[in-house]
Amino acid sequence: MCGIVAYAGENSACPFLIQGLKRLEYRGYDSAGIALAGSRLQIHKCKGRVSDLEGHLISNELEGQVGIAHTRWATHGEPNDVNAHPHLSMNGHFALVHNGIIENYAGLKAELIRNGYSFQSETDTEVLVNLIEFFYGKGLEINAEMAIRLALSKVVGAFGIAVICNDVKEELIVSRRGSPLVIGIGEGEYFVASDATPLVGYTKNMIYLSDNDLAIISKNSLILKTEEDKPASFRISRVDRTIGEIEKGDFDHFMLKEIFEQPGTIEDTFRGRVSADRSAIVLGGLMDVFPAILKAKRIILIGCGTSWHAALVGEYLIETYARIPVEVEYASEFRYRNPILTADDVVIAISQSGETSDTLVALRMARERGATILGVCNVVGSSIARETDAGVYTHAGIEIGVASTKAYTAQVTVLTLFAIKLAFAKGELTVELYHEIISELADVPAKINTILSGHNKIKEIAAKYKGATNALYLGRGLLFPVALEGALKLKEISYIHAEGYAAGEMKHGPIALVDDNLPVVVVAPKDHYYEKIVSNIQEVKARKGNLIAVVTEGDLILKEMVNDVFEIPESHPAVTPLLAIVPLQLFAYYIAVLRGCNVDQPRNLAKSVTVE
Ligand code: F6R
Repeated sequence: MCGIVAYAGENSACPFLIQGLKRLEYRGYDSAGIALAGSRLQIHKCKGRVSDLEGHLISNELEGQVGIAHTRWATHGEPNDVNAHPHLSMNGHFALVHNGIIENYAGLKAELIRNGYSFQSETDTEVLVNLIEFFYGKGLEINAEMAIRLALSKVVGAFGIAVICNDVKEELIVSRRGSPLVIGIGEGEYFVASDATPLVGYTKNMIYLSDNDLAIISKNSLILKTEEDKPASFRISRVDRTIGEIEKGDFDHFMLKEIFEQPGTIEDTFRGRVSADRSAIVLGGLMDVFPAILKAKRIILIGCGTSWHAALVGEYLIETYARIPVEVEYASEFRYRNPILTADDVVIAISQSGETSDTLVALRMARERGATILGVCNVVGSSIARETDAGVYTHAGIEIGVASTKAYTAQVTVLTLFAIKLAFAKGELTVELYHEIISELADVPAKINTILSGHNKIKEIAAKYKGATNALYLGRGLLFPVALEGALKLKEISYIHAEGYAAGEMKHGPIALVDDNLPVVVVAPKDHYYEKIVSNIQEVKARKGNLIAVVTEGDLILKEMVNDVFEIPESHPAVTPLLAIVPLQLFAYYIAVLRGCNVDQPRNLAKSVTVE
């Protein structure tokens, strides 16, 4: 999704802006651009990568201590040089970069055309920059800040914007509604970005701008105001991220690095939450609301994509162990279907970024209807984290690969801790089983290390299936969501069409697809569904499907029966989802690499989906 960086300070803006754009590449984009407030507003932009933009810059003079820059993920108008941001207003007074969508842009554009404005691009962003200039031209008493405020009051939709003005070259103005912006505080300089990644190494002190607030920034001052032009309240957060977290190190791709980080990230998720003697779970972030959760008549888990898959694992765990009814909903459906909610409901949003538009809006709707709203987020200080009554951070660290891996296992870890703690507090779990599952959870990192040590074998198997055009993933019970997630990983990074199915559903349709061309990946460790899933495997085998199974180490029966196996260590069923997904992540990764795909930035996808 689009990315913004901006700078105002005593140094040249360009180096930070270019490096910032590179650090935002992971979000997915198709064009890039930069504007600097030098002796005049200079804009350079082009379709393609940030490196293409850099090539373009060499031949140009780059001066300016205030600047804005952008990576665009096309919404209004195709990816090309003209539609790329920044956009300049018709009379050259303002340059603007914008994340989000201006929903009423067509009406505003028509009004501006009636007032003599013409447009170069097809974007909603050019409408906004001209609207600002239109108000600016209304009279001497309207300065740049007031013009921006007036323009934003006319806008319906979501935005994060950064604006520079030809007449006030030392000033940068930023604002947001629905699309995040973070301001980094340096010494004699301020940095702005759409997430904290570009700011790492420049400052640890950051302000997450609140919806509808405006920040007026120059090298020596930062003023935050509300949309009513009153001083805005804010909090400076300390964000302790290291450069190592945002670099690939010895790995070929961020996705591979993040898959290999999982033993460590799962330990980070446990840290402080599982007592040293493995006898208790402490979820500090839920302390105040825990009594309300225990009394809940229903828990509703909402999320999108991979986070929705984590929610499905959560559903099985909470219902199985804590015996509280759970519903799982796509946030995009939940927000529009007028759900029945009461004060007895607890709604939990699962989101890596904490900024996914559908999830955020669904959560606000649940709050308005009286439900207790909680969040399971990875990004500290994100919108969902700030807007919920309470929550649990997953602590997986910055996830840069667009395909979620370590954030997913961290989400599942949190949901497992939550389910087990809830079950014990409700008296649904014996102390022995409570301790056993905690202990099993604590052993997961070592077991994932064992799986990762077999990565070469998984690569060899991937080579056999890299030419596939379709794939079917099957699982049962807690491992059905793992099949869904395995299929999603394959499809999003290798572009092979893959479907996840509950294995019992196979006979009701997908079996028609099975022939000797179709790889069928079955998640089949030794659990209480084992006999059933072996029958499903037999059905595929009878139709000559190419079977690949995730099996418990030493399962000779399945090894004989299927074409290839991914072995995982034996474990308690409650923690098996955390193990079973790892070979499927690696399988998808190696297939995508062997097919020459851009693993970290798959086509058309964005890391943080801040528009609906
Ligand atoms: C898939 C993936 C997406 C996200 C989804 C929700 O690998 O990453 O499906 O899971 O866009 O994003 P978050 O978790 O940030 O709300």
